[in-house]
Amino acid sequence: MMRALLSRVPGGPDTLEIGELPDPVAGPGEVVVAVKACAINYPDVLVIEDRYQMRPPRPFAPGGEIAGVVAEVGEGVTRWQVGDRVMGNTMMGGLSERLRFVADSLHAVPLGRSFEEASALLLTYATTIHALVDRGAIAAGERLLVLGAAGGVGLAAVELGKAFGAYVVGAVSSEAKAVAVRAAGADEVLVYDRAPFDKEQSKALADRFKTAAAPNGFDLVYDPVGGDYAEPALRSLGWEGRYLVVGFPAGIPRLPLNLTLLKSCDVRGVFWGAFAARHPERNRAHIAHLFELWGEGRIAPRVTEVFPFERGGEAIARMAARESVGKLVVRVGA
Ligand SMILES: NC(=O)c1ccc[n+]([C@@H]2O[C@H](COP(=O)([O-])OP(=O)(O)OC[C@H]3O[C@@H](n4cnc5c(N)ncnc54)[C@H](OP(=O)(O)O)[C@@H]3O)[C@@H](O)[C@H]2O)c1
Repeated sequence: MMRALLSRVPGGPDTLEIGELPDPVAGPGEVVVAVKACAINYPDVLVIEDRYQMRPPRPFAPGGEIAGVVAEVGEGVTRWQVGDRVMGNTMMGGLSERLRFVADSLHAVPLGRSFEEASALLLTYATTIHALVDRGAIAAGERLLVLGAAGGVGLAAVELGKAFGAYVVGAVSSEAKAVAVRAAGADEVLVYDRAPFDKEQSKALADRFKTAAAPNGFDLVYDPVGGDYAEPALRSLGWEGRYLVVGFPAGIPRLPLNLTLLKSCDVRGVFWGAFAARHPERNRAHIAHLFELWGEGRIAPRVTEVFPFERGGEAIARMAARESVGKLVVRVGA
């Protein structure tokens, strides 16, 4: 048996408890990884409360991206050997001591990188490179507004925006978060208030975004926040701008469609998991690009806190409370 941080009933992070599950076994073409580190993402907040788009059968362990060591190799696997350092993403189960993967879905952890850092790369940066490139058609010299810019995908958007030659404006809810966004290379950072906003506050925020986007408006908005932040951001788009819908921790917004007519602009949905399933080759090419940028030091997951396995729920609680900066990681195995 192996240990896992389990959700047995729908609820917040305090409902998670360490329990036991049967050891996974590597089938043909699969490997079992001894998990060393698991990075936390907002979907972990949602899935344990039954608020995510998929509902795994209970008990399950949350956790969508890990790094660890190959512990068992299934029939026909030639690419990996027991002891190899690997990283991968998964729908679920990252907060378990052992996890089964399709062998070809894993990546080698580059020399000199820690398990903690490696666990925190794939989900946020792969989402964001897909968003900016495929959905956003980002071009050098464009102006990009990133909401929630100190979050996991937010910081990835700041770094990748800079790597693609954009002028990046980050927007966050506190000065401490602004510090992290400046350190990640944003050209400007704006600190916004906490929603909800009345009409006047919404207009005032739109005016601040427009000032940061002057004279022509933003070419791109990257929005992993939603709620009352969305409409002011949409109002700051320029002619033929693209608004990237990434997530909704602040709530699912409704947008007045007349705004899209006035700017001839687009609102574009981003769903990386579905993209990766439909276009595995394109996703692989993006990930190869991310490894290059990581190697060149142009992107780097910013792990700000590491939690012991037994306190993994606290990492999810910090994210749910809007207190996390960059990536939170749980150390699973010794
Ligand atoms: N579309 C896709 O394919 C895809 C893939 C991965 C993730 N996502 C989504 O992207 C979003 C961000 O994920 P993440 O892992 O980067 O999360 P995160 O690190 O927690 O970032 C989310 C940011 O949202 C802001 N926020 C505003 N209101 C909030 C609230 N009530 N509670 C918590 N945060 C709030 C916070 O920034 P401020 O305090 O600065 O406002 C926070 O930093 C999530 O909705 C996630 O599901 C989507």
